[in-house]
Amino acid sequence: MGIPTDIRSQVLLLPSVLSADFARLGAEVDRMLDAGMRAIHFDVMDGHFVPNLTIGPAVVAALAPRIHERGAWVDVHLMIEDPDSFIEDFVRAGADALSVHVEILPHLHRTLTAIRELGASPGVVLNPATPASAVSEAIKYADYVLAMTVNPGFGGQKFISGALDKLAELARMLPPGVAFEVDGGVGRDTISRLRQAGANWLVSGSAVFGAADPGQEAAELQALARGGIVV
Ligand code: DX5
Ligand code: ZN
Repeated sequence: MGIPTDIRSQVLLLPSVLSADFARLGAEVDRMLDAGMRAIHFDVMDGHFVPNLTIGPAVVAALAPRIHERGAWVDVHLMIEDPDSFIEDFVRAGADALSVHVEILPHLHRTLTAIRELGASPGVVLNPATPASAVSEAIKYADYVLAMTVNPGFGGQKFISGALDKLAELARMLPPGVAFEVDGGVGRDTISRLRQAGANWLVSGSAVFGAADPGQEAAELQALARGGIVV
């Protein structure tokens, strides 16, 4: 079933647990849900596609029940060389949305369709230097597109403003009901520009978890994204 259309159309701040305290991940997730977050973002890296190793299906499986219990959603971003071998594991672990990079997959239709057949929402991701046209066909089979605004691999990197140029072009390509997610360097300085460019799902790691009060920061960033005034 995946993520329903009404959630895909909402403006959401998705905290990335990559920048959370790994010694207390459950409490970190709870804090985000308490702050009104509707989806939690998981960054999966394999040390090959990107130069870092992070979490696997076991961590998603440990956290997914408490997210689902609160009526929220699990968004998994696969930055791995062989996503086809792992999509079933992540859906079983509780992923509601699963995104794969266009740069590594020659058979995107097959992969996106397989994710949907397993019961999750398929997403297609493009790196900062990948043109919008690279996903023009794949979006027919996706529930969301994710545009990276940093090179994937680490939290806390500098926002690449050049990646903004193609966002408006991507926004025009998206059929209604397809969410437009951005990831990398999302915070108070960038969130309005990203919203203006058409993005409606905003992933944020270090800006949220590096704040003195991560729950409050997440809520304020979400309010900013929704056009609210935060003082
Ligand atoms: C980068 C990841 C991001 C990352 C974002 O490879 O895909 O989700 O956690 O972190 P910030 O918000 O710190 O740029
Ligand atoms: Zn991510």
